[in-house]
Amino acid sequence: MKALVLAGGAGTRLRPITHTSAKQLVPVANKPILYYGLEAMVDAGITEIGIIVGDTRVEVEAAIGNGAAFGASVSYIPQTAPLGLAHCVLIADEFLGDDDFVMYLGDNLLEQDLRSFVDAFERARSSPQPPNAQILLKRVADPHRFGVATLDDDGHAVQLVEKPEVPPSDLALVGVYLFDRTIHDAVRAIRPSARGELEITDAIQWLISNGYRVRTELLTGWWIDTGKLTPLLEANRLLLDKLEPRIDGDVDADSVIDGKVVIEQGAEIRGSTIRGPVAIGADTVVVDSFVGPYSAIGANCHVEGSEIEHSVVMNDSIVTGIARLEDSLIGREAVVSRSRRRPRALRLMVGDHCQVDVE
Ligand code: G1P
Repeated sequence: MKALVLAGGAGTRLRPITHTSAKQLVPVANKPILYYGLEAMVDAGITEIGIIVGDTRVEVEAAIGNGAAFGASVSYIPQTAPLGLAHCVLIADEFLGDDDFVMYLGDNLLEQDLRSFVDAFERARSSPQPPNAQILLKRVADPHRFGVATLDDDGHAVQLVEKPEVPPSDLALVGVYLFDRTIHDAVRAIRPSARGELEITDAIQWLISNGYRVRTELLTGWWIDTGKLTPLLEANRLLLDKLEPRIDGDVDADSVIDGKVVIEQGAEIRGSTIRGPVAIGADTVVVDSFVGPYSAIGANCHVEGSEIEHSVVMNDSIVTGIARLEDSLIGREAVVSRSRRRPRALRLMVGDHCQVDVE
């Protein structure tokens, strides 16, 4: 079994961060989103991985390389325009050959591991009526934002629609799919949707309409499509909750560390309170500050005279004199500073290399 990981999308809903960075590389709990997917794949025994890349190709390749660090062998497949998820299968046909594969959307995060999902497909493939595809579904409150499935009594998919105004069920398509080679016929047969993309949802519907079997699995753990700020902060919260506390940096006698906290090597905490779940990256300095629950401060940052809660601060950034920063995403090499303290909370989304001076 191979894997096709999609990391080409433009990430328009996470601008300004994605003007300069790939959305799949934004960190949650101080680890790029895409790493979680790759690790899940390798854990499930899949090591031959093709990654679809777009405008952010250079950055994605720099972060993943040849995959050896993950125990995988990674090849890159460039997509010149965002023409849809099914288009990704179309351009990956040489890499995929006739093999079964997992298709994984690089901005999706799942609590559950992939192994049980892959095993279930492989078991079903050796049954008398083997499925040609398997989709993962999750009950959600806002199905109109996703692909939506209707099932028969045996749990097979009978109808799939992409982002319907009136959803036929609350079963959303999670961004993890398993296919055999019949999907290649499907992606060649379908036409672009109203948004001008070749939809994978339409390709799976084509399989159903042409008599192929599409098995379903219901996801019980959490699932987050991280493409926007609120779900990204939610993913950060859920993953920080799973931290194994570890203090490898330096904490002075005037500081208090409370709850689940990870402080990486080379970090220094001086005269500050860190109340977990919190992750502080390598070589970051925190002085006279409060870093509260559900914050992840990247590597090589400087935080001074500030309060931060429920926020992600990416590598190499500076936050000084900010009475309170909450529900925020601060890009790389950004500077957020304020000359005088005022008791007002800031909610910010600050792009890479930006400088914000609050008067
Ligand atoms: C895509 C799929 C949709 C699926 C979703 C999961 O949507 O088209 O069916 O439910 O991913 O994240 P998109 O993120 O392209 O809007």
